[in-house]
Amino acid sequence: MNPAERVAQLRQEIDDHNHRYHVLDAPIVSNREFDLLYRELVELEKEHPDLVSSDSPTQRVGAEPQERFRKVAHREPMLSLANAFDEDELQAFYRRVTKQLEMEEIGLVTELKIDGVAVSLTYENGRLHHGATRGNGLEGEDVTSNLRTIRSLPLRLREGPHPSTAEIRGEIYFPLSGFERVNRQRSEEGEAPFANPRNTAAGALRQLDPAVTATRPLAFFAYSLGHTEGLEFTSQGEVLSQLIRWGFPVNPHHKSHAGLPSVIEYCQSWEERRDSIDYEVDGIVVKVDRLDLQDRLGAVSREPRWAIAYKFASQVAATRLVEIRLNVGRTGALNPYAILEPVELGGVTIRTATLHNQEDIRKKDIRPGDQVLIKRAGDVIPQVVGPVDKDEEGRGEPYAYPGECPECDSPIVQDPDEALVYCRNVNCPAQRFESLKHFVSRAALDIRGLGPKTLRKLLELELVAGPADLYSLTAEQLSGLEGFKEKSIENLLAGIDGSRRQPLPRVLFGLGIRHVGETAAALLAGEFRGVERLMQASPERIMEVSGIGPEIARSVADYFEVEENREQVKRLRAARLQLKMAGDDRDAPTALEGKTLVVTGTLPSHSRREISELIKANGGKVTSSVSKKTGYLVAGSNAGSKLRRARELEVPVLTEEEFLKLLQGEP
Ligand code: IVH
Repeated sequence: MNPAERVAQLRQEIDDHNHRYHVLDAPIVSNREFDLLYRELVELEKEHPDLVSSDSPTQRVGAEPQERFRKVAHREPMLSLANAFDEDELQAFYRRVTKQLEMEEIGLVTELKIDGVAVSLTYENGRLHHGATRGNGLEGEDVTSNLRTIRSLPLRLREGPHPSTAEIRGEIYFPLSGFERVNRQRSEEGEAPFANPRNTAAGALRQLDPAVTATRPLAFFAYSLGHTEGLEFTSQGEVLSQLIRWGFPVNPHHKSHAGLPSVIEYCQSWEERRDSIDYEVDGIVVKVDRLDLQDRLGAVSREPRWAIAYKFASQVAATRLVEIRLNVGRTGALNPYAILEPVELGGVTIRTATLHNQEDIRKKDIRPGDQVLIKRAGDVIPQVVGPVDKDEEGRGEPYAYPGECPECDSPIVQDPDEALVYCRNVNCPAQRFESLKHFVSRAALDIRGLGPKTLRKLLELELVAGPADLYSLTAEQLSGLEGFKEKSIENLLAGIDGSRRQPLPRVLFGLGIRHVGETAAALLAGEFRGVERLMQASPERIMEVSGIGPEIARSVADYFEVEENREQVKRLRAARLQLKMAGDDRDAPTALEGKTLVVTGTLPSHSRREISELIKANGGKVTSSVSKKTGYLVAGSNAGSKLRRARELEVPVLTEEEFLKLLQGEP
């Protein structure tokens, strides 16, 4: 087989596996096997640059950042939908439609209304040519490079006709599980969480650097066709079937109905079940199934007469915003939140809600004293939507951030790169409290018996100011604290003492350096093997570590430039904490020295690549297949054949959590 044939064959196979994995959720090869095919293709394309083409699976990421997005006119306008808020309005819709068409009964299709961002994808002769946002419906922005990073979106149409032009329309969304994962990671790294999945998806899609988009687990559902040449369909049901054959993810919950009664049932049943799926849905789209009837019905003012959106009763309530307060995080970032007059929403009483940032408050013109709308979506924390009535008389003054930190009165500064403001006083009591809380937390030094109340008390009595002070606490000092008896004092002191044995990655994570989560801490520990060496490294040197980007590198270097932080490290060393990897002062092996590991399946919070980097950083080797020599198999969900093989050979199998514990030196 010549290289061109092999390249074509590899692309086909990789596309098939991608489709099975990301669209059908039914992979038939392991990730390792997939990686091997992929690597072969990368190598061949490197050797034969003339064979590279834009629809190759290797070309999903890597496009250069852009200055701005090109505008694209939609060849057919992207319409919006009229709403129906209850059963009566659905009935009115059906009456209008049957009357205009002079028919008794009309077949309808119902689909979930995905709460994401509408996009249009143009395929020319079967290849993705460009993709655009909806924009104002007539003209959108060309976000092709970003769309290409979404794995479930085919770069080439699969089965069926490949018309000269086919325009596919659908919704980009942020799956809730991915949203929670990203936010968990952000809060661990001292960054403000994203507000809601929809806006985060929209933001990710409008990133000028596709590499950033690629880090967000966006997904896609196709639901209709725009301008498409040389193809005739007779119904929406047929369109959906062709979209599936072309390889697009189509939401599985669509349904055909002979008339209205079962549509109403469908709407009601989803109203109750909307929390059971991994994406936000704000209603049901009801469409006339036959396309010829759709044409006859036409559109009025950008809304088709052949479809309507049944909107779920929204989880919105109105209440009074009593006060805007600022919460100081451990890195000094100030996050505004609203104190509300308690209000019932979706069965829970809400007393506080987030306000994102200063700019958002200004844009929505939210002022203390306002009647405001509060929204709760899925599991996401309640948010303030905005004032009920901006023109109401006697409103308070527009809100402005105070010039000083609410906790320590030192001046606050705006970070020029971000929308965040900071308190830069490392001695700020709120930062001290949050830092200590982080230091003793489970994933860091894991000191039990030091709850928030006790920490607050210790700070108040000035028994501790920073983490290092914990190690000189005495039984006598603790005996003065409320609720501390002989036994609990003994336990706490033993817990503090035991934490001296926690390995370097945990200590490094516990320092609470911005952007340094558990993964980054383990990578840095594996590379520098001691805080001393890390402290002396330049950001450029730190960035050389695979898996560490410029943001983390900068933040680590900045952290160690602060005198107080260096002092804190010195005192932790004096308190005999593990500031080196075990292997560096004795000859003891690192956690995975000499071991060979295999990683398989979908892991709950890390990618397989991250886990592999961690293995290598900790002295282990990664291979693709399980054998008698395999030390451990790290297995996630859908592990398949490797898991079976490991069991046969009695190779120990670890969950992600167990693996991370192992790195930390726990049995
Ligand atoms: S059909 C003219 N189907 O809802 C038909 N839209 O308000 C309009 N949407 O901009 C598109 N899920 O972003 C259709 N299954 C679905 C949908 C859907 C979500 C969004 C889409 C559109 C908005 C209309």
